[in-house]
Amino acid sequence: MKELNEKQLIEILRKELKLPAKEKKKAVNEGYTVQTQTYRLPTELLSEKNKASHQKIMEQHAVALNWIASNLDAVNRDEVENSNNSKFRGLKIDEVYNLNASFLHSMFFENISDVNSKITIDSLAYMKLARDFGDFDAWQKDFIACALSSRSGWAVTVYNSFLGKYMNVVCDLHGSNIPFSSTPVIVLDCWEHSYYKDYMSDAKRYIYAMMKELDWNVIESRFERTEKIAKVMK
Ligand SMILES: [Fe+2]
Repeated sequence: MKELNEKQLIEILRKELKLPAKEKKKAVNEGYTVQTQTYRLPTELLSEKNKASHQKIMEQHAVALNWIASNLDAVNRDEVENSNNSKFRGLKIDEVYNLNASFLHSMFFENISDVNSKITIDSLAYMKLARDFGDFDAWQKDFIACALSSRSGWAVTVYNSFLGKYMNVVCDLHGSNIPFSSTPVIVLDCWEHSYYKDYMSDAKRYIYAMMKELDWNVIESRFERTEKIAKVMK
């Protein structure tokens, strides 16, 4: 059987999909840029030095992501021959690494450092966590276990639309073990850089400190949004 070249394969696919024979060239590339916010955290459970260096780490991920996005615009897809090595593959792997790092850090900074932290039993967050974990304390215990299990990564409470319930996830680095079809509602950074300056290797003390100051107002609004998504995804 005669081997088809890439051009011929694309032509066949376009025909099968009932697309016009030739695609018009796009005038503009569709790159993107992300911007970071500066977070002023009132908590005294983290030092100012720690807060400043952590903010910088988040900003570096956003700078890297923007650089990757502009390079992806220009990288030659025709050079990809296999899964071993290519500029394109390197950029695609680094893209999601830095995208998740930027997103998770913003979610984390937004949901910590409420010095008047309080959750009420009639809140959506409390009721949904109690429904899916048995009770609120069971969610908390499971979440702390996830945080302690994470290897330079994150503990995240997500709504998983495939399961139709909230679950806790142990994420290593910025992307390993995140289930598809998930919307994060509670995010805790468990990388060493988030606690070492203040707690040395005592991750447990850091985790308990952060749990005391979760911003349940921010989390409540995430639950409200997520419940709307849950209805659509049913
Ligand atoms: Fe971090």
